[in-house]
Amino acid sequence: MKITNMMKLMVAVWFAIIGIINQATAQTVWLDELDLSAATQGYGVPMKNKSNEGKTFTIAGENFERGFGTHAVSSLMILLEGKAASFTAKVGLDDEVKGQQPAVEFEIYGDGKKIWSSGIMKLGDAARPCSVQLNGIQKLELVVADGGNGNYYDHANWVDAKFETSGVTTFKTYNPIASEPYILTPKPSDKPRINSAKVFGVRPRSPFQYLVAATGDRPMTFAASGLPKGLKIDANTGLITGVLAKPGTFKVTLTAKNAKGKAEKQLRIECGDRIALTPPMGWNSWNCFAHEVSADRVKRAADAMVKSGLINHGWTYINIDDFWENHRDSKDQSLRGKLRDDAGYIIPNSRFVDMKPLADYVHNLGLKIGLYSSPGPWTCGGCVGSYGYEKQDAESYAKWGFDYLKYDWCSYGNVINGLPENDPYKVSSLSYNGGGELATAQKPFKVMGDYLQQQPRDIVFSVCQYGMSDVWTWGGSVGGNCWRTTNDITDTWVSVKNIALDQDKSAPYAKPGNWNDPDMLVVGHVGWGNTHPSKLKPDEQYLHISLWSLFSAPLLIGCDMEKLDDFTLNLLTNDEVIEINQDPLGKQATCLQTIGDLRIYVKELEDGSRAVGFCNFGVEIVDIDYTDFAKLGINGKFNVRDLWRQADICTIKTGADKLDIKVPAHGVVLYKLTPAK
Ligand code: GAL
Repeated sequence: MKITNMMKLMVAVWFAIIGIINQATAQTVWLDELDLSAATQGYGVPMKNKSNEGKTFTIAGENFERGFGTHAVSSLMILLEGKAASFTAKVGLDDEVKGQQPAVEFEIYGDGKKIWSSGIMKLGDAARPCSVQLNGIQKLELVVADGGNGNYYDHANWVDAKFETSGVTTFKTYNPIASEPYILTPKPSDKPRINSAKVFGVRPRSPFQYLVAATGDRPMTFAASGLPKGLKIDANTGLITGVLAKPGTFKVTLTAKNAKGKAEKQLRIECGDRIALTPPMGWNSWNCFAHEVSADRVKRAADAMVKSGLINHGWTYINIDDFWENHRDSKDQSLRGKLRDDAGYIIPNSRFVDMKPLADYVHNLGLKIGLYSSPGPWTCGGCVGSYGYEKQDAESYAKWGFDYLKYDWCSYGNVINGLPENDPYKVSSLSYNGGGELATAQKPFKVMGDYLQQQPRDIVFSVCQYGMSDVWTWGGSVGGNCWRTTNDITDTWVSVKNIALDQDKSAPYAKPGNWNDPDMLVVGHVGWGNTHPSKLKPDEQYLHISLWSLFSAPLLIGCDMEKLDDFTLNLLTNDEVIEINQDPLGKQATCLQTIGDLRIYVKELEDGSRAVGFCNFGVEIVDIDYTDFAKLGINGKFNVRDLWRQADICTIKTGADKLDIKVPAHGVVLYKLTPAK
């Protein structure tokens, strides 16, 4: 048969039609073609077709050109809208983290249900194939979970990952956590309101300093009736100073007056052996300036504490972290110099020169000042520590006028391991060896704790050894006023969430004078020497501040104080939220009920009321009619107040009424329930 041109054309058209039909019914969409920036992950940024170090993906020696490189804990949400038939990929840890021991688990969730898991994967495991049918699934979540060994140094790869679809050519990815900042709290009234703590502890013969922190229009005049002998108040600033000679409890009535009105508050002064009767509130240089701190930056932070008005809400301490000391081998000449004088007294580095005038400057603003050291020969940053010179250091801090010491384990592990006897300061590596025996773990803190208590001023002692040896059970016995319960915080959801979920075990040990410290706040501009706006989403920040308040945690702002924006100020100046943190009963909230991803934290307050945090750790909004009050130990008739909005919501009778609760994803609803008459 002769093939005519016409026949050729018909065949070509036929194949074209088949092609079009095929395209409409089956289409491959590669994961790496989607917008991966919507992923949230433990640290770093989502990588497309490159490993976390920018190389070709390699899993157990096998190379892959295409894929998504991420870090646990990671989540990528993909909107499928029922249009994907299947997903296939290979998963595994990238060989480039050689020397580490990461463990992760790759998981896939379809409309909230787990539909596939890789099982625990370790470095060196061959890439595991994954193949799932997706018929009808609307929302898909690709997760890399921590494999349970606490080692987060992982580079986790989804490679050769693709969808077969019924014709669509792409999918939208999304981050379910709202990203627009929103302000919930009304501005403080122009009438006076006294916000400083209701109880204050001081030791006999120590210099007394308590500021009547108050919001409201200026000028304002202050008074205090019932002040014990030895104390006086400055009517213009509200600063109470002096010295108490003998122990005792003193009830004082504070007043603040301006053109718009008058406020009154009862203050209980406890003169005895306990200080920090409410959690310390202030600022610390580490989370913003890290190794770049200087006296000038510290002064500017103190100025900003006043100028921003934070001082009027009770924020007090200006704490210098590591790098005020001289460094063992830094190339930065401003950190190099003689470490100690001939009598063993520490010499600050050239960025600080003289500590006393700096402390005076901060005190003159009505604030207090703190600093940092390590019981080891070197601090975590490689500056000189207190090992062997604890007495001289405690004396220096007191002589300069410091009010707070953070004492950070760092190289003390080397002391336990055995320092070279001829020159312990030759040790250059850090060891986080936790102390093993309890007595060994406690010893360095007891040594410094005792020296601090011998000083003629009150110095809050902040123990920092990252929660080793269940420090909450003994931190108070070595003189600690607070102790870190965790490793360093970062401004990621994973970090804040993991720390938050780990606090219940230490909660029973918190009490006035002894606080669990889940590390500093990561709101505002943070960044350890190179600041950026906190990566936490607005709802995550509300949750962070609410939880740290419920936890009775020391509240130490970690941001650049000169870059405070309205949203951050709103977070840090809600006096009703701060009051939860500063409640004189000093109880720490614990989680009393879990409903799916919702955890309900309850903190008992001195006046018989309860602060209740409905905390949503999940990615979907929680919308419930809540009735389980008995599970929270709450029975009777209660007035419900929304603390972030500072608004009364309703009165409820437990057993009869429901509370309508709507909690945003990664967000919080923080209520105070007060018994109703
Ligand atoms: C870490 C500590 C941080 C910071 C840093 C200074 O060990 O946890 O909060 O103080 O040392 O080098």
